[in-house]
Amino acid sequence: MGKIKENEITPEAVYMNRRNFIRAGLLAGSAVTTGAIYKVFAPSGGNIKDTAPIQGEIGRSSFATDEKQNTFEEITNYNNFYEFSSSKTGVAEKAARMNLRPWTVEIGGLVHKPTVFDIDGILRFPQEERIYRFRCVEAWSMVIPWVGFPLKLLLDKVEPFGSAKYVAFETLYDPNIMRGSLAAGIDFPYVEGLRLDEAMHPLTILATGLYGKQMPHQNGAPIRLVVPWKYGFKSIKSIVRITLTADEPRTTWSLAAPNEYGFYSNVNPDVDHPRWSQKRERRIGEDWTMRDTLMFNGYDDEVAHLYSGMDLKKYF
Ligand code: MTE
Repeated sequence: MGKIKENEITPEAVYMNRRNFIRAGLLAGSAVTTGAIYKVFAPSGGNIKDTAPIQGEIGRSSFATDEKQNTFEEITNYNNFYEFSSSKTGVAEKAARMNLRPWTVEIGGLVHKPTVFDIDGILRFPQEERIYRFRCVEAWSMVIPWVGFPLKLLLDKVEPFGSAKYVAFETLYDPNIMRGSLAAGIDFPYVEGLRLDEAMHPLTILATGLYGKQMPHQNGAPIRLVVPWKYGFKSIKSIVRITLTADEPRTTWSLAAPNEYGFYSNVNPDVDHPRWSQKRERRIGEDWTMRDTLMFNGYDDEVAHLYSGMDLKKYF
């Protein structure tokens, strides 16, 4: 884990201002103005590598932590994306090679209406902001203002069969541009999975951007999963395929090291990784002072019921 240099300009300060305007706009009862406000106050350039603003209005969600957000610089320069590089600070440059159009997300398996969605259609779904704590299994964390929509919205459109119990996800795999994959020591395409009730939970989103802008390549453009109560590796990037299944899907890290990474991977300070403790974490951008890791990453009120009666040491 490298130490990140504090940002010199403060895009997040610009952003906070913008958020206050948005809040004022919403308090005035005018959600329609939100999009316009985003456009007017979107930071233009500076020393950050910008992506285009999200088109249309961005709703505000009731799911938002008020903890200090990590800066755009931090979120976009300390990444795990093994297809491109195993160096967290090396991903941003290499992932820029990924071609984002044409891009489709194919949804099939145990569904009544298998569909190939074009990404530009998906980007027109109503988007909202979700400010989530994001806890990586490697014991660091960030607070990230994602933009996206509940995964449920997409799954409902394809009408899962009653027999569907799980959802499997797959990332694009193009070894010609994803050169890091040859040395990563895991198999590709990167695959992940959730139980259907986890996938349908309102906290589970498909994220299309962050800080009001389209998703940067290195964070999983054009669309990635975010499951805030699970370790970061469950939040699979650059998704091209979603499949509803009856059986528990295979997942990249549990295939690579089954004794270290389980299917559930809920953030749990009481279940250590075999090689390190999960009791504490370091917030990127702060000094090396460790903070306590919270059960389900602090989302226990919302999600603990999903696991009632389950032995979380066994189903780790
Ligand atoms: N998705 C793909 N396709 N490939 C990856 O290597 N890394 C995972 C997850 N999703 C990964 C992935 C891990 S280990 C983490 S911690 C998060 O992405 C990191 O997301 P971030 O770079 O946006 O912070």
